Amino acid sequence: MRTRKGVMDMVRIPVLILIFLSPFCQSSNQLTQTKPLFPKDMLISEGGDFALGFISPTNSSNKLYIGIWYHNIPERTVVWVANRDNPITTPSSSAKLAVSNNSELVLSDSQGHTLWMTTTNNIASGGAGASAVLLNSGNFVLQSPNGTIVWQSFDHPTDTMLPTMRVMLSYKGKPAMHLSAWKGPDDPSTGEISYSMDPTSDALQLFIWNGTLPYIRSSVLSDFSVSGGAYHSNGTSIMYQEMVVDTGDKLYFTYTVSAGSPYTHFSLHYTGRMKFMSWNNTKSSWAVIDETPKAGCHLYASCGLYGYCDHTEAMIPTCQCPDGFEHVESLNFSRGCWRKEPLKCGDEDNFMTMPNMKLPDKFLHIRNRSFDQCAAECSKNCSCMAYAYANLSNTGAVGDTSRCLVWTGDLIDMEKASYLENLYIRLGKSPVQNKSNLPKILFPIIACLLLFTSGVLVWTCKNRGKRQKKKVQKRKMLEYLSSTDEVGDKNIEIPFISFENIVTATDNFSDCNMLGKGGFGKVYKRGHGRVLLGCCIHEDEKLLVYEYLPNKSLDYFLFGRFNVQYSTRRSMLQWTTRFKIIQGVARGIMYLHQDSRLTIIHRDLKASNILLDKEMSPKISDFGMARIFCGDQLQASTNRVVGTYGYMSPEYAMEGAFSVKSDTYSFGVLLLEIISGLKISSPHLIMDFPNLIVYAWNLWKDGKIEDLVDTSIMENCCLYEVSRCIHIGLLCVQDSPSCRPLMSEVVFMLEDKMKPLSTPKQPIYFALRDYEPREAGNIREFSIYDTSLTALEGR
Ligand SMILES: *[C@@H]1O[C@H](CO)[C@@H](O)[C@H](O)[C@H]1NC(C)=O
Ligand SMILES: *[C@@H]1O[C@H](CO)[C@@H](O)[C@H](O)[C@H]1NC(C)=O
Ligand SMILES: *[C@@H]1O[C@H](CO)[C@@H](O)[C@H](O)[C@H]1NC(C)=O
Ligand SMILES: *[C@@H]1O[C@H](CO)[C@@H](O)[C@H](O)[C@H]1NC(C)=O
Ligand SMILES: *[C@@H]1O[C@H](CO)[C@@H](O)[C@H](O)[C@H]1NC(C)=O
Ligand SMILES: *[C@@H]1O[C@H](CO)[C@@H](O)[C@H](O)[C@H]1NC(C)=O
Ligand SMILES: *[C@@H]1O[C@H](CO)[C@@H](O)[C@H](O)[C@H]1NC(C)=O
Ligand SMILES: *[C@@H]1O[C@H](CO)[C@@H](O)[C@H](O)[C@H]1NC(C)=O
Ligand SMILES: *[C@@H]1O[C@H](CO)[C@@H](O)[C@H](O)[C@H]1NC(C)=O
Ligand SMILES: *[C@@H]1O[C@H](CO)[C@@H](O)[C@H](O)[C@H]1NC(C)=O
Repeated sequence: MRTRKGVMDMVRIPVLILIFLSPFCQSSNQLTQTKPLFPKDMLISEGGDFALGFISPTNSSNKLYIGIWYHNIPERTVVWVANRDNPITTPSSSAKLAVSNNSELVLSDSQGHTLWMTTTNNIASGGAGASAVLLNSGNFVLQSPNGTIVWQSFDHPTDTMLPTMRVMLSYKGKPAMHLSAWKGPDDPSTGEISYSMDPTSDALQLFIWNGTLPYIRSSVLSDFSVSGGAYHSNGTSIMYQEMVVDTGDKLYFTYTVSAGSPYTHFSLHYTGRMKFMSWNNTKSSWAVIDETPKAGCHLYASCGLYGYCDHTEAMIPTCQCPDGFEHVESLNFSRGCWRKEPLKCGDEDNFMTMPNMKLPDKFLHIRNRSFDQCAAECSKNCSCMAYAYANLSNTGAVGDTSRCLVWTGDLIDMEKASYLENLYIRLGKSPVQNKSNLPKILFPIIACLLLFTSGVLVWTCKNRGKRQKKKVQKRKMLEYLSSTDEVGDKNIEIPFISFENIVTATDNFSDCNMLGKGGFGKVYKRGHGRVLLGCCIHEDEKLLVYEYLPNKSLDYFLFGRFNVQYSTRRSMLQWTTRFKIIQGVARGIMYLHQDSRLTIIHRDLKASNILLDKEMSPKISDFGMARIFCGDQLQASTNRVVGTYGYMSPEYAMEGAFSVKSDTYSFGVLLLEIISGLKISSPHLIMDFPNLIVYAWNLWKDGKIEDLVDTSIMENCCLYEVSRCIHIGLLCVQDSPSCRPLMSEVVFMLEDKMKPLSTPKQPIYFALRDYEPREAGNIREFSIYDTSLTALEGR
C-alpha cells in the first residue's frame, strides 16, 4: 500500500455559499408526525457533526432544497440533497418537511404541492409514532415505532460517500445505485457526470460517465482483500480502509477511517473528478487526499487501440505500445498502436504475457473455466485477441469462482501500474520479453537460496539479457549485489547449475512438467534427473531451482472459519500443527534477522507467503519486497510503502519506517490469524470490532479467549498454550516498535512456557471508528483510485 505522504497537494474546493433564510429555531435531531420541519428550523445530529434543513446554494436564486451539511465547520459543505431536481421555487415560509400519516417523509411547498417524498411502501401501520432521525454519521433515517429503519438517505446518495455508508453497486448482477455529480458549482440538480457499475460487463467494472460516454473506468473487480492506505500530514493521520463486499446478491462499496480522524468524504465533482477529501482544522478548509483522474492518460481510451497508459517507467505517465506493436503515429500517441507482424492465425501465433495490467474494456466473461480451458478458449478462435484469468476461490466465494475473460475485438483502455493481473495478448511471432523485472528477480533468487536447502523445482524467469558464460555468472551477480546499497556482505555463496541439467530435468521445458505461470515466468516440476539447488543464467533466461512444496500456502488451510465448505481443510491444521507452524515461522524470521550473516527484513510476511511442505512445516517465501540491512543499521525508511494492509505496522504504514520490529508486528498478526482462523481484515467476521487485533485484545483483556480460538481446534488444544500464544501475539502487535519483542525473544517465549510475559499495551492505531458490519460476505479489492491504492508488487 502506498501512503499519500508527500504527494498531497492541498486544493481548496469552491466555497459553497448557503443562505439561511432566518436564524434557525428548532435544533433537535428528530422529526415526528406532530413536529414537521419548516424553513426556519434545522435538525442537528446528536454529537453535532451534521445538520439537516432548507438550503439555497446561491444568493440570486430563490430555489430551496432539503440538504444535509457538516454542522461543525465554517465552510458549508453539502453532502446530500433530497429534492435536487425539484426545488421549492414559490415563496416558502410555510413549506415543510413532514412525516406523513402513512409514515413517509414528504416535502411540500406553501400551496401543499408535494415536491419530494420517500416511497417505502410501508404498509400503513396506523402511522403512530414513526419518526425521522438525523444520525451523527450524516445518515437521515426514517424508522417505525419499534426502531426498524424503513428508509435511509445513505441508500439514496447524491454525489457524496461518507464513512460507513454502503453504496450498493449491484444487486443480483445488475447495476444498482449510482452517484451523480451536481450540475454546476452551485446547482445541485442532477448533472451529466455519474458513477456506477457497467451494465454490460456482468457488473465487473465501474465507470465515471459523462452522460452516456465512459469517462474513467475502474479495473476489473477481482478478489484480493480489503485495500486501504494511510494519509499522514503534520501530526494528523488518517488510516482508511476501502472495500467492496460481495454477499452473493449484493455488491457494495464502503469505507471506514481510523478513530480520531478528521471529517472525510468521497465526492463526485461536476468536473468529472472523484475526490477524497479531509477537513484540515488548522487551515480551516478541505484538503484533497486523493483524486482521480491523476494523469492525462488515465482517462478512458486515451491511449487509443492497443495502447496502454504506463505509470511504471516515467514520472509522468505516458502512452506506450505492448511489445510487438508500434505507435500508429509517432507524434500523437493517442492514435494507438498497431501490430508489427500481422497475425497468421494458426500454430505460429503466440500469447505474450503482460504483467501488472489494468485489463482492457469490452471483454466477454466466460463462466466456469480453468486457466487452461480459458487459454484454449482464446487460442482456438482466431478473432480472440487476448485473455485473462483469475481464480476467485480463495475468498470463500460460492458458485463459479473462475473469472475467464476473453477479448474478441480490439483492446482498449489499458494501463500498466501495480495491478496484479496478467493479460495474455495474441502475437504473430514469438514474444520478446520486457527487461524491467531484472532487479526484482535477482534479489528473490539470493534470498530464496538462503532459505531453501534442497530442490526439485525449476523456476524460469525469462528476461532479455546479455549472453553470459557460466564463469562470469557469479561475478555478475555479485556485481549486482554490490551495486545496490542493500547488501553488506559480498561473500555470498551461490550454487550455479548447468543449463543442460535443467533441460533434462524438465524434459526440455515440456508443458507436461509446467506447474503454472505468473508475472515472473513459468514454474516447472522436475521430471527426472537430478538437479542441485541453485540458479542458472542461460542467454536471456534466468532460472532458479528450489524445493518443491506440494502443499499450498497457509492461507489455503487457515481461513474460512464460517464457511462449512472449508471445514475439512481447516481440520488439517490441528493445534499441534499450528503451534509447530508458529514456532517454525518465528525461527525462520529470527534466522533472517540475526542468524544469517545479513539482517534481512522481509516486509511482506503474511499467511499466503508461508508455504507448507508435506509435513506441514512452514517455509517463508516471496522475498520480492525484502530489504537487507548493512552492518549495524537498525532502521530504514522509504517513501514507497509496499506490503499488505493489515500486516503493516503503524510506523511503516504511516511513516515508511521499517526495522526488524515491523516484521515482528507482521508475525504477531499472523500468529493471531493462525489461532483464530480469521483474516486480519475480515470485518464481517469480527462482530463489532474493526479488525482482528482489536478484537483479540478485547477478548484477551476480558479473559474470553475461547471466543477467539478457531472452533476447529478448540477440542484438542491446550488452552494454556493457546492463551500464551495470544499473549505473545499481542506483545508483537503493540503500536510502539520499541515495546515489541525481538524475534529471538519471541522464539524463546514460545519455547520456554514458564517464562513470565509482560502485559501488552492496548492497540490504538487501528481501532477504526463507526464500524457497523452487518452481513457476511466476501471482500474484494477495489479502489476508486485504481492506479494508486492497489500497490502490491513483485508477483
Ligand atoms: C451573497 O450575499 C452576501 C450578502 O448579501 C454577499 O456578501 C456575498 O458576496 C454574496 N455572494 C455571492 C456569491 O454573490
Ligand atoms: C393525519 O391524521 C390526523 C389525525 O390522526 C388528521 O388530522 C390528518 O388530517 C391526517 N392527514 C392526512 C393527510 O390524512
Ligand atoms: C417493526 O414494525 C414493522 C412495521 O412497522 C414490522 O414490519 C417489523 O416486523 C417490526 N419489527 C420488529 C423487530 O418488531
Ligand atoms: C493543514 O494545513 C496546514 C497549513 O497549510 C498544513 O501545514 C498541515 O499539514 C495540514 N494538516 C493536514 C492534516 O493536512
Ligand atoms: C503543524 O501543526 C501545528 C498545529 O497542529 C502547527 O502549529 C504547525 O505550524 C504545523 N506545522 C507546519 C509545518 O505547518
Ligand atoms: C462531457 O461532455 C460534454 C459534451 O459532450 C463536454 O462539453 C464536457 O466537457 C464533458 N465533461 C468532462 C468532464 O469532460
Ligand atoms: C491525436 O489523436 C487523437 C485521436 O485520434 C485526436 O483526437 C487528437 O486531436 C490528436 N491530437 C493532435 C495534437 O493531433
Ligand atoms: C462447470 O464445469 C464442470 C466441468 O468442466 C461441470 O462439471 C460443472 O457442472 C460446471 N458447473 C456449472 C455451474 O456450469
Ligand atoms: C482455484 O484454486 C483452488 C485452490 O486455490 C483450486 O482448488 C481450484 O481448482 C481452482 N479453480 C480453478 C477453476 O482452477
Ligand atoms: C470466434 O469468436 C467470434 C466472436 O465472439 C465468434 O463470432 C465466432 O463464432 C468464434 N468462432 C469460433 C470458431 O468459435
